[in-house]
Amino acid sequence: MLNKKFSYSSQRWLKRREKDRYAHMAKELQYRSRAAFKLIEILEKFCIIKTIKNGEVILDLGAAPGGWSQVISEKLRQVSVLAPIIGIDLLRIEPVGGAYFIQHNFLSHDLEKKIHEILFQLNSEHVIALDSEISEEKNLKIPENFSTALIVSDMLPNSSGDKTTDYLRFAELFDGILLFATKYLKKNGFLVTKVMRCGKESDIIKRYSKCFSSCRFFKPCSSYSSSAEIFAIFKKN
Ligand SMILES: C[S@@+](CC[C@H](N)C(=O)[O-])C[C@H]1O[C@@H](n2cnc3c(N)ncnc32)[C@H](O)[C@@H]1O
Repeated sequence: MLNKKFSYSSQRWLKRREKDRYAHMAKELQYRSRAAFKLIEILEKFCIIKTIKNGEVILDLGAAPGGWSQVISEKLRQVSVLAPIIGIDLLRIEPVGGAYFIQHNFLSHDLEKKIHEILFQLNSEHVIALDSEISEEKNLKIPENFSTALIVSDMLPNSSGDKTTDYLRFAELFDGILLFATKYLKKNGFLVTKVMRCGKESDIIKRYSKCFSSCRFFKPCSSYSSSAEIFAIFKKN
């Protein structure tokens, strides 16, 4: 039954959501977002989890409310790999086992300092209590000059209501993500990032093409077919 309180478009959204099996499954499996399933599909399709080793760092950009961090943490636990996840978002995120969150703007100049602070903290603790069973067995040292094994980004700038502005904002963000990945991703590491078709994405990718050995586009089944979102999966040279 649809409620008179809601506008017509909200009612359509609610109806779609009622029918959305991924939203139901997310609730059932206690994932914080239906987006969790998009990452599950990507990790499986590109066999990414098996490339991550103990002690390597994973970055989750635009992590709130934490669905992707939950998925990565769960997948790593299944293969007994102890690798800390650092999540960054403008919003505060409730704790997720194995993940450390920074409430910060990805585009701000001092983000790297914040990441280093967390890494320093983890390093001085020596053992990360990701999971009591695993952490009892293995000690974890994060290298000082760290590089990440995997960067995932589900970030999009907030919609301004003006397409041109949104495209420009996305282009800036996308450029920032690729630059960040060229700096911090290890050789053969993966970058998984959401792409908005803004007319500039191919030029931006071309600019960084020497840094990546491959770039593949993928639309997960769990992504609404009506949405223009697509994901790009890059492998670092
Ligand atoms: C679609 S949500 C991410 C959902 C997440 N992958 C999950 O499964 O729970 C996108 C997030 O990106 C964040 N975001 C957008 N721009 C950002 C920026 N410049 N810095 C940090 N976070 C940003 C938003 O606050 C939002 O929480």
